[in-house]
Amino acid sequence: MKGLVLAGGTATRLFPLTIVTNKHLLPIYDRPMIYYPVATLAGMGIEEVMVVVGGKSVGDVVELLGDGLHFGLNLTYRYQRGARGIADAIGLARDFVGDDCFCCVLGDNVLLGPPLAEVAREFEAGPWGAGTMLYEVADPERFGVAEFDAAGNVVGFEEKPAQPKSNRIPIGVYFLRPDAFDVVTTLHESSRHELEITDLLNHYLPGGLFHKDYAGLWTDAGTVTSLIRAAELAEQESNAGRLTGPPARPTS
Ligand code: DAU
Repeated sequence: MKGLVLAGGTATRLFPLTIVTNKHLLPIYDRPMIYYPVATLAGMGIEEVMVVVGGKSVGDVVELLGDGLHFGLNLTYRYQRGARGIADAIGLARDFVGDDCFCCVLGDNVLLGPPLAEVAREFEAGPWGAGTMLYEVADPERFGVAEFDAAGNVVGFEEKPAQPKSNRIPIGVYFLRPDAFDVVTTLHESSRHELEITDLLNHYLPGGLFHKDYAGLWTDAGTVTSLIRAAELAEQESNAGRLTGPPARPTS
């Protein structure tokens, strides 16, 4: 399986923090934000990873992560023009992914919990077209939101609905196959001028979507409140000896 970290976008929700720098470089406790999604992929045993970069200070992102050797990874990069959405950014990985399965992790997602190697293996061995991890949150209207039928099956996802149909959201971890690249080309821009990941996931419903509840602690870090929350969770996990560290430094 290959890996994809999405670190494009303009991060306007964090202005003025991100006027002159890239959101994914901001500190979360003792390390830059992008270390968390990179560690999530490394924890799955994935070695070949592409980072989609965009927005401010892209060179600093590359300088920080380098060739990835200090994470045990082999990194490549691709530039996304503008902030055309998560599904658009995924579409840029077609040549890199080739015929493999891949896992895409959003660059502002902080997963503090058991490694997902087993979950990745289960998806890869199974019949599903796509997969994601679900998590219960208090403010689902900020995210993609899952809708369930009476039997508890996911029947659809809505992006940032005013009236959420549940409080369970797909976190920014997506398991996909090369077929997703063809689906991306059929998607239409949403009202916020993005190709939405929820539309890509909906393509595989009903029946073709793998999902599991995420068993660890999760938050995004794309708003000031969630950035603070992420740091608090990381500190708590570090104090409990559950945050792997010290933070990796580039090797010369
Ligand atoms: O965190 C989970 C949520 O992430 C999901 O529940 C939503 O369905 C999904 O749309 C997403 O929502 P956000 O509004 O939080 O996404 P955001 O625009 O903040 O983008 C998250 C990351 O994706 C960001 O750190 C960088 C990357 N990204 C985003 C866009 C729009 C790109 O690389 N390119 C882009 O064009």
